[in-house]
Amino acid sequence: MTTTLDSGPSDDLGVAGARRRGAELERSIRERPGTFRALTGDRPTGRLHLGHYFGTLQNRVRLQNMGVEMMVLVADYQVLTDRDVADRLTERVEDLVLDYLAAGLDPGRATIFTHSAVPALNQLLLPFLSLVSVAELGRNPTVKDEIAHSRQSAVSGLMFTYPVHQAADILFCKAGIVPVGQDQLPHLEVARVIARRFNNRYGTPSNPVFPEPEALLSAAPLLLGTDGAKMSKSRGNAVALAATADETARLIRGAKTDAERHITYDPIARPEVSSLVLLAALCLGRDPHEVAAGIGGRGAAALKALVTDAINDHFAPLRARRAELAGDRGHVRRVLRDGNARAAAVAAATLAEVRTAMGVLY
Ligand code: TRP
Repeated sequence: MTTTLDSGPSDDLGVAGARRRGAELERSIRERPGTFRALTGDRPTGRLHLGHYFGTLQNRVRLQNMGVEMMVLVADYQVLTDRDVADRLTERVEDLVLDYLAAGLDPGRATIFTHSAVPALNQLLLPFLSLVSVAELGRNPTVKDEIAHSRQSAVSGLMFTYPVHQAADILFCKAGIVPVGQDQLPHLEVARVIARRFNNRYGTPSNPVFPEPEALLSAAPLLLGTDGAKMSKSRGNAVALAATADETARLIRGAKTDAERHITYDPIARPEVSSLVLLAALCLGRDPHEVAAGIGGRGAAALKALVTDAINDHFAPLRARRAELAGDRGHVRRVLRDGNARAAAVAAATLAEVRTAMGVLY
């Protein structure tokens, strides 16, 4: 048995390796997009913001449009890892699907589903749990970090085991690529270890049941929240995709800057100002240094006015589409029902293979 759960998200070698491998993968995807299936997803804990858009959503739509088969998971069970009750879950799930659709995920090509609605996926958790040790689960750096920041007084069993459930999310559809941020690398390593161990124990060398999935690290731009901290759904420091033009203006007006009037792009020395410059640059499709030079001595107020206009112009079509879709909840529910049915068929086929390999098919 191989045990390779020691490297964490702060381990530069792991991240650098994944980036190198990601560049190779990108080349193969460009050559033969139709041979790749990608799975990724989000916890439905609130509306997606601009950080999500430029970090991951845009990349998913790009892959879809290149011809990669996209499976996009609304990880509803996973919400319960760091809280006792998942409140307003239906609304949050539907909001997330609206964000996906507005951003350009096309339910005709991409499968959008919730894992709670795919029983065969969840059943994979049992054999998978038998393939990892309690010590390995306890070493997962992302889980450790989440426990440290959890609002619960006790750590639940799900907190320790959700990376194994996430392996089921990835392996049920035999996804070859998993577009994620770097905090998810330890989870991807769990999925790879489980695939390898399952194949070793129950498969034959010529006929492995599971491929080993690979991370496709998104080149997430360093966008900060308006308070200068990490952009987050729960801190109220992020512009939501669904925000109105006025809400956007209000948030950006209150954004933290610094005392220096002359605007420059220098993410290390001036993180808050540079994050605003970058946001404008991403929306305008321009180089951030040029954007900063264009503002020059006109100061933070001029920068904020530019950022607000850039966001509101760039996202106007997306927001209009979202508002239109939001008026038809029946459509959102149909998208999910179709996606769940497609995912269930894939999961049933994989589970049948797993049970055959394990000799428990009666
Ligand atoms: N853990 C991911 C997050 O918090 C969400 C997720 C669940 C996921 N299952 C997944 C991501 C499978 C990629 C693949 O963002």
